[in-house]
Amino acid sequence: MENENKTIETPKKKEIVFSAIQPSGTITLGNYLGALRNWVTMQEEYDCIYSLADLHTITVRQNPAQMRKNIIEAYASVIACGIDIEKSLFFIQSHVHTHAELSWILSCYTQFGELSRMTQFKDKSAKHADNINAGLFTYPVLMACDILLYQADKVPVGADQKQHIEITRNIAERFNGLYGNVFKIPDGFIPKNGARIMSLQDPTRKMSKSDENVNGCVHMLDTPEVIMKKFKRAITDSEACVRYGEGKDGINNLMAIYSAITGLSYEQIEHDFDGKGYGDFKTAVGEAVVEELRPIRERYEKLIKDKAYLEECYRKADEIALKISSRTLSKTMKKVGFIL
Ligand code: TRP
Repeated sequence: MENENKTIETPKKKEIVFSAIQPSGTITLGNYLGALRNWVTMQEEYDCIYSLADLHTITVRQNPAQMRKNIIEAYASVIACGIDIEKSLFFIQSHVHTHAELSWILSCYTQFGELSRMTQFKDKSAKHADNINAGLFTYPVLMACDILLYQADKVPVGADQKQHIEITRNIAERFNGLYGNVFKIPDGFIPKNGARIMSLQDPTRKMSKSDENVNGCVHMLDTPEVIMKKFKRAITDSEACVRYGEGKDGINNLMAIYSAITGLSYEQIEHDFDGKGYGDFKTAVGEAVVEELRPIRERYEKLIKDKAYLEECYRKADEIALKISSRTLSKTMKKVGFIL
């Protein structure tokens, strides 16, 4: 109770931020620089509600033992990044049953046509042609429910999720149009310093843990040695000049990473590395990443050993999330005509 007051019902109402991440394997440097780091900074200005979207992961077949491991490791990783559980909510989606319930209801207010147009559905069904399940198709409805249940004002997401925010707004507006103001219409935003990090081996593609080349992807919990090795092998070009430009995807990507971490502008980086080779630059970027991630890895190592503490954190958050989201679910059900 006390916690709820502190987090959600502060006298001067802050805007509500909602975001979630899927616990589907390790967290990459791309996830960290593109999303998680912003989750941490937003805690100052907003009432932040974050979730591990474990229900979303089963749209792709999971190994049960590995899935359990992924969930707990992702939970510890996010806290290790600096999510302060006294300040923000960080709960596990599957523990809060309102998500699946609202999802059924809102799926009846979502059109087949609009779901068919989702580019992520098209991509994922092409990639998993042997398992194009209905969950993959209705995935955006569940995501909409995640957001709408908490009456979120703002939803920080990567560029690839923009279409999902659009459909969330459409579903909410449609429902509100029929029944009055039930849902806050959320704004998606792509954080301005939310760098889009590309593979170190194929810088035309987003950094991804499913990269066939292990050197393409830096994991948030990689050791300093591994991180340095990956940066030293990063693909560049033959110009041997540290400058941002067309046809220099590799260097552009390294500059984006370096800039995201040091806060230096591209101009400043070009100036600082004027006359130096790519070897020096790769070392500098690698070292910056190592130092950025070092405290996170250290915190993670402690957290992952303390399962009781982790459980205490998510049980507390799950309970508060249930309380908040139940208000929205009840209101929705009443409007539709259910007897409560
Ligand atoms: N679909 C998002 C992703 O894969 C994760 C997610 C689930 C999410 N629910 C959300 C993100 C709600 C923002 C808000 O990255």
